[in-house]
Amino acid sequence: MIDHAKIETNAILLLVLSLVVVSIGGIVQLVPLFYLENTIEKVQGMRPYSPLELAGRNIYVREGCYVCHSQMIRPFRDEVERYGHYSLAAESMYDHPFQWGSKRTGPDLARVGNRYSDEWHVQHLIDPKSVVPESIMPRYAFLKDRELRTDDLAAHLKANRAVGVPYTDEMIENAVIDAKSQADADSDGADAVSERYPKAHVRDFDGNPGKVTEMDALVAYLQVLGTLVDFSAYQADKNLR
Ligand code: HEC
Repeated sequence: MIDHAKIETNAILLLVLSLVVVSIGGIVQLVPLFYLENTIEKVQGMRPYSPLELAGRNIYVREGCYVCHSQMIRPFRDEVERYGHYSLAAESMYDHPFQWGSKRTGPDLARVGNRYSDEWHVQHLIDPKSVVPESIMPRYAFLKDRELRTDDLAAHLKANRAVGVPYTDEMIENAVIDAKSQADADSDGADAVSERYPKAHVRDFDGNPGKVTEMDALVAYLQVLGTLVDFSAYQADKNLR
């Protein structure tokens, strides 16, 4: 029999024994991870965000969209039926910080890419009620008037590289020109964007081809969400295992 009175009246002994118990729990949780080759399942199609998408993502964070929107589809039937395949860890491996969110006032946005037209997004961001009458989402009309700041984009790519996103020197060097070219399909640099960033949408997003605005960047980001992973290849690969 353990003499509890002794342990509970001796602070040092209690501390030492508590540490022993907590360490055992910790080791049991941690050790299996050392034997996993990778905690993120590999998938085909994931790539770092293009500079314009990354700029849009920064605006998403700046405006606090994550306060009302999650980007994490849970593996439950109702969620999968509504939003599509549940989110994979690999899909947010280039997100620093990730945008999983913790609250849904609006719908999950993890797979909103390609679901609506650019025009819909622009109109919805200018005045949500004009397309969804019962919406309580705030208006972000000012985004279409604000020119996108691009001079700091190379630094953003570099900062992401420092935490493990595989941006190449070439991508960093071309960050500004790539951002501008992605918003103009007729530009000289348009093809280079598609080459460097497969599946990137290259076009004017906000209906104002003369200017690269924050609206262009945010819509470019929304339109790519959840569209990169090739799920037919993923399922085929999974069935083989
Ligand atoms: C105060 C909470 C709130 C904030 C902040 C907010 N939204 Fe929403 N959002 C909603 C609600 C509620 C809806 C559902 C009604 C609607 O479609 O307008 C919605 C819908 C959406 C949709 C349509 C999703 C779908 O599948 O139909 C998109 C896209 C979207 N929001 C993007 C954004 C972006 C981008 C931002 C930041 C610039 C943002 N939202 C900020 C509440 C919010």
